[in-house]
Amino acid sequence: MDSNTIYYATSCVALVTAFLLYLRLRSQNTPLNIPGPPSPSYIFGHMPQILLSPRYGDHEFEWLRSYGSVYRLKKCFGQDRLMVADPLALQHILHSPDFCLAPLPKNVLGSEHRELRSALNVGFTAAAVRNYQPVFQKAAQMISDEFESSSAVAIDVCPLLCTATLGAASETLLGHSIQALGEDFVANNLQMLALSGSQSKGDLLIEAIGAYLPKWIWRATMHLPITAVSTLRKGKHLADRIGGRIARERIDAMKQGLDVETDLFSVLLHATTSGKMKTELKENDVVAQTLIVLLAGQEPTARTLHHGLRMHPDFQDKLRAEIHSNVGGGTGNVAYDNMPLLDAFIKETLRLYPAMPLFDRVAEQDTIIPLAESITTSTGESINQIPVQKGQLLTLAIASYQRLAPHWGKDPLKFDPSRWLEGTPYKGDAVGPYANLLNFLGGPRTCLG
Ligand code: HEM
Repeated sequence: MDSNTIYYATSCVALVTAFLLYLRLRSQNTPLNIPGPPSPSYIFGHMPQILLSPRYGDHEFEWLRSYGSVYRLKKCFGQDRLMVADPLALQHILHSPDFCLAPLPKNVLGSEHRELRSALNVGFTAAAVRNYQPVFQKAAQMISDEFESSSAVAIDVCPLLCTATLGAASETLLGHSIQALGEDFVANNLQMLALSGSQSKGDLLIEAIGAYLPKWIWRATMHLPITAVSTLRKGKHLADRIGGRIARERIDAMKQGLDVETDLFSVLLHATTSGKMKTELKENDVVAQTLIVLLAGQEPTARTLHHGLRMHPDFQDKLRAEIHSNVGGGTGNVAYDNMPLLDAFIKETLRLYPAMPLFDRVAEQDTIIPLAESITTSTGESINQIPVQKGQLLTLAIASYQRLAPHWGKDPLKFDPSRWLEGTPYKGDAVGPYANLLNFLGGPRTCLG
């Protein structure tokens, strides 16, 4: 493609987009008298304050204090939305069929979501995860060896954690070590992670506009010569090739009557080819998930660990001592239940530094959102439920919810793992699948890992 063609194609996409956006905004309903901070810009709304501030939450946690656990915000192009941190409201939105994913086409498992989800579940039972323990130990050993062999005074642990989590995902999910993914895939993967960790104002606009593009335009944009897009394209291409190769190996082995391996890919392929699954899923559908299953757990796990260790290095010695006294003298048995500080450190890290702090949802019909705590409208009325109209946009503010006073005990803004040592510190109705945290969401889209 020459530069003129790219220029005209991009201009056409921009024009169509502007038109669609205009139509969409015209039909948008913004019915609420819920107060919120004034918007600093029509084009960007509050988005740069939320997503581009030097430290996550600089503005958001201040708004939480001033406006309470539900307030109104502007996204790009004057889009009105409700920022929701109220526990009952979050629980309701995550579980109710009245709300769906926001228009952005980022449905992790694609259109056969429910079938794939129930198929993938076999890899995430308690028994399956216990079997993965040697793999996790190997990943930890790899990081430890890197540290010991390095003469540097300070090491950036983030790429190491990313490679270790990718290795663990590769072994548990595909049944192959990270070497089988190839150097190209690993290098491209690090580049993808670096790109996903850096956002600009331009990205905010692209995301805002992209939410209204029909799927065919999205597909067309996948061919644009932009670094972020070409890195993703390459990752998908390499992953499909690796997945296809492993799938053929596995199916040949099954045809020869060999035992089915225990990794997720083998179990899934066995189920699809033996007709054990009540679905139309084919080998290709499984192969198409290779990139997703490798990446879904990698980035949030690595980023969460990285944040905790980087922000609170003062805990590292105590954690190391606890781990060393529990690793079973080289027997390979790790007594996780005997490591209360590690457990508390991980939970407190998840609470204060969720890797994904915001999720968007849309009301699919007129409905009512209940609140755990009443809020005061701009007309002075106190309400304990919010009526919303079809099309209302909502943002689930996970990081704000996980700082709510008085739910999380004393000084909820402070990193203090000891709050977990006496059991869960959360006071209120149960929320979320794990320790009342919403890092893993809840309801039908709960994280599988
Ligand atoms: C700290 C670690 C993790 C966090 C915070 C996390 C969080 C999440 C969240 C929020 C979602 C929902 C995304 C959405 O619907 O937009 C999700 C989905 C998913 N996660 Fe995790 N995750 C973690 C680790 C893992 C691991 C280790 C695995 C697997 C090896 C994994 C596998 C998945 C899969 C397959 C989905 C898609 C589920 C679906 O679409 O129904 N996650 N995760």
